[in-house]
Amino acid sequence: MDLVRDDLAALYPQVGVRVAHAGLVLVGPTDDELLELAAIVAEPHGILGPGQEHFLTRALGDDDAARVFLEWAWRLREFPTTGRWRLPLAVLEGGRALGLVVLAHEVEHPAGTVHTSSWLARAEQGRGLGRRVRLMLLELAFEHLGMTRAVTTAADDNRASLRVSQRCGYRETHRRRHADGTPEVHLAVTPGAWRRRRLDDVVVEGVEPFLAAISPASR
Ligand SMILES: CC(C)(COP(=O)(O)OP(=O)(O)OC[C@H]1O[C@@H](n2cnc3c(N)ncnc32)[C@H](O)[C@@H]1OP(=O)(O)O)[C@@H](O)C(=O)NCCC(=O)NCCS
Repeated sequence: MDLVRDDLAALYPQVGVRVAHAGLVLVGPTDDELLELAAIVAEPHGILGPGQEHFLTRALGDDDAARVFLEWAWRLREFPTTGRWRLPLAVLEGGRALGLVVLAHEVEHPAGTVHTSSWLARAEQGRGLGRRVRLMLLELAFEHLGMTRAVTTAADDNRASLRVSQRCGYRETHRRRHADGTPEVHLAVTPGAWRRRRLDDVVVEGVEPFLAAISPASR
C-alpha cells in the first residue's frame, strides 16, 4: 500500500504527509483506506448514534452514503495552492483505518488560518483518540506548516467535539446556524494556547513537498 501512497504523493504532495504518536498514525489515504472508511460510513450508526445525524452534514448509513463519502474524498485530491489546500488524513491504529480528519485552508480564510474537521468510527470514540488526533493536527499546522490560527465548528449539542476543542485550548468565537438550520458553535485556538497542551514525541514526516506547494514564494 505504501508504494501506491508514494506514487500518489509524487503527484499530490498532501498524500505524503505523515503524523505519528504512540501507535496512532495520520496519513494521506490510499483508495484501500478510503474503502475501509466508506464501509464505516455505510454501516448504520457507524459514526453517529441515533438522533445525532446533524453532527455531520454528509449522508450516512447506506451504500449511497459510501458513494457520497468516496466522491467527496476524491474531490479533495487536487493540487494544493497558497490560496486553497485540503489535507485529508486517515486515522490508523494497528494498520486499521478508524476515521478521517481534514486540515483545510479555503479561499475565504485569512492567511495563516486552518480549519480542522474529524470523525472516528463510533466503536472507537470516547477513549481519548479524538483529543490526541486534534493535538497531532495542531502540531502539524502550527509547528510544521507555519499556521497561526486553527478554527473548527461543531453542532451546539455535540458535547464530545466541543469538549475535545476545549481541552486543546480552543475558545468560542461566535455562533451561527448551518444552512440546514443546525445551530453551530465556531471555535479558534492559537499556537500559544495549544503549546500548553502539546503532546510529547509527535513525529511529523513528509511535509517539505507539501509546504513548498502552499508557500507564497513558490507560486
Ligand atoms: C468528536 C470526536 C472526533 C471526538 O473523538 P473522541 O475520541 O470521541 O473524543 P475523546 O475520547 O478524545 O474525548 C471526548 C471528550 O468528550 C467527553 N464527552 C463525550 N461525550 C460526551 C457527552 N455526551 N457529554 C459530555 N461530555 C462528553 C468525554 O468525556 C471526553 O472528555 P474528557 O477528555 O474530559 O474525558 C468523535 O466523538 C466523533 O467522531 N464524533 C462523531 C463525528 C463528529 O461529531 N465529528 C465532529 C463534527 S465535524
